[in-house]
Amino acid sequence: MAGPAFRAPRGTRDWFPEDLVIARFLEETARATARAYRYAEVRPPLLEETRLYTRSLGETSDVVSKEMFTVPSRADEGVTYTFRPEGTAGVARAYVEGGYPARAPFQKWYYVGPMFRYERPQKGRERQFTQFGVEAFGSASPRLDAEVVDLACAYFERLGLEGELQVRLNTMGDSADRERWRDALAAYFAPQLARRCEDCRARFQRNVFRLLDCKVEACRQLNASAPSVRAALGPESAAHFAAVVAALQRLGRSVVDDPAMVRGLDYYTRTVFEVHFPPLGARSALCGGGRYDNLVSEVGGPVTPAVGFAAGFTATELALAELGRPDPARLERFRTELGANVYLVAIGTEDRDEVFRLAGELRAAGVSGVDLDYRDKSSKAQFKEADRLGARLVVVIGPEERSRNRAVVRDMQSGTEENVARTGVVPRLQEVLQP
Ligand code: HAM
Repeated sequence: MAGPAFRAPRGTRDWFPEDLVIARFLEETARATARAYRYAEVRPPLLEETRLYTRSLGETSDVVSKEMFTVPSRADEGVTYTFRPEGTAGVARAYVEGGYPARAPFQKWYYVGPMFRYERPQKGRERQFTQFGVEAFGSASPRLDAEVVDLACAYFERLGLEGELQVRLNTMGDSADRERWRDALAAYFAPQLARRCEDCRARFQRNVFRLLDCKVEACRQLNASAPSVRAALGPESAAHFAAVVAALQRLGRSVVDDPAMVRGLDYYTRTVFEVHFPPLGARSALCGGGRYDNLVSEVGGPVTPAVGFAAGFTATELALAELGRPDPARLERFRTELGANVYLVAIGTEDRDEVFRLAGELRAAGVSGVDLDYRDKSSKAQFKEADRLGARLVVVIGPEERSRNRAVVRDMQSGTEENVARTGVVPRLQEVLQP
């Protein structure tokens, strides 16, 4: 037989009810962790004007130069829209557009939702993936950087990845530091260009920092001895970095100082960090983030310091699977949607209308997880289905119950049965199901 006529686009997944159990666990743990630190949810659109990303992430970044899903707009001539490849630029745009800089500049926000990058799909990389991100605006305090790193770690710990994580920390310096660093890199790379890949030669003309992201092995080896940003740091950036490390120590967090770590997006200033799960190998980053003190002004707002991170669900799920976590018992509460609380059984065909009516009454009374048979199954098969769905209660109506205006309520946990007046079924079920 031929395969299905249609498939989900390459690099995307269908999330079936069973798969959403783990997704919901990741998402609700994200919300609970954000709440612990008083970050509030923000929901910008999934599309933004393309030039928002070109401007903020950098034209030469991999994301902008190769990975954007861009669509022309029909009405607004000349405008193209891009499915968001990441959340920070859109959130910063919203922060400015919402008038927060003047009204309430200090904001701590989070988001959970899909991002889109036109990448080659492979283990841990998808074209549609979910991120949990936080963005804090309006403070340059190194303690806020530490809070954001701590929140990221707390998230993974709450999921059950404690003990296996590595936090890598670096700084990108401020604008003046980066100029010094850029000169040092240019001087170092210039004599190597013949030995580097074609992409690197093109990057050299446009943005020397991008050579540091190259994934080609020969180029990576040459990068190993490239000048580090540390030599270019001015006293303020150096002090900020030291203060972040000290603040993290106060929270009991130890981090790996990684002077060679660079991030693939242009907006970072000063602190950058990644949380890794080393058993995942080459793609071990579960999350990345840092400070971006110039982004708000880049997108049209006043100069506003900010810091944040985003954690990817794809890699996080792989890390959990690697450890055989979480304990299935922890997922139980996210499974409830798959089962029934109450299953209604009709003994004879002529009892089906009454059972159907009762389902309506129960739902109207606010009882959740009410279901019944729609496939003309025998009463025996209906009981079996109730079992399969894990129904807590089964209500049975047969010819006898119907003629006497009664129903039988069976508690599937205790196995006990009660014969209840038909008018008393709804209140009795509400009583039993009360949490
Ligand atoms: P990023 O490092 O590009 O940073 O992405 C963060 C995380 O998203 C990665 O560590 C990875 O787990 C996940 N991720 C990225 N691309 C894919 C993909 N194609 N498939 C699956 N997972 C992926 C950012 O996005 C920044 N906006 C983070 C940030 C927030 N910085 C400051 N605030």
